[in-house]
Amino acid sequence: MLLELTSLDTLFATVRAWRQAGQRVALVPTMGALHAGHMALVEHARTLADRVVVSIFVNPTQFGPNEDFSRYPRPLDDDRALLTLHNADALWLPDVATMYPQGFATSVHVSGVTETLDGAARPGHFDGVATVVSKLLNQVQPDIALFGEKDYQQLCVIKRLVVDMNMPVEIIAVPTLRETDGLALSSRNRYLSEAQRPVATRMNQVLRHSAFVMREEGRPVAETLEKAQRFLLDAGFSNVDYVALCDSHSLAPLENYRRDARLLAAARLGTTRLIDNIAVE
Ligand code: PAF
Repeated sequence: MLLELTSLDTLFATVRAWRQAGQRVALVPTMGALHAGHMALVEHARTLADRVVVSIFVNPTQFGPNEDFSRYPRPLDDDRALLTLHNADALWLPDVATMYPQGFATSVHVSGVTETLDGAARPGHFDGVATVVSKLLNQVQPDIALFGEKDYQQLCVIKRLVVDMNMPVEIIAVPTLRETDGLALSSRNRYLSEAQRPVATRMNQVLRHSAFVMREEGRPVAETLEKAQRFLLDAGFSNVDYVALCDSHSLAPLENYRRDARLLAAARLGTTRLIDNIAVE
């Protein structure tokens, strides 16, 4: 049975009881609009822990003023049904007043890894993410927390955060789940129209092609990234925020191909912003 927890007191009491019984606790933080990618995190958590808590909180502080906070999908009944089907133990469902009570005045900033890519394209976004993830980890106090590689920069930010703040939690990265045509699963895919859907899938194709030509044909990085941007625009994306080859830990941009690098892209399709990334090897 899925326990639905909406107050900090009941959350603390529930997790305390599990811990006293010697059980290992996993947290899967989400903003809801759950899909098979989230369920892969839940299933993986199940193999590593006795109890799986999934949080759903559409965090206002990680959305910019012109972003999709108000229209972000909130299909809570569907989310509950999926979590029940996948045997999550508890749904942590704080409201905004519980997360950010009157007088809340703290923001967590991770430097370095937040300065490029989405950090540059979405100012303040990662402060919102680092702040809410710090809070979620403090609230639930899990042994492990699972994050998808789909949001690769977010994963790097959170890994840095828990190391720097000596948080007693292990961060587990789970590979991106994709549609059969390669499109990375994302809650934002439901914004896509029928006409935009085949365009969206080009992002992964372009990333894979770019990795191939750098790896197998030795094509120069700058030229490849420039061509990738052009391919995305020609395919129908309205704007490309970046296509970048980066160090897979620091996310520093790379001028030369390296086998352990990460290739990342973000582009807009109408009003929908899509991101994807792959390991180049
Ligand atoms: O990846 C997400 O869904 C969110 O950024 C997270 C980690 C739940 C923080 O709000």
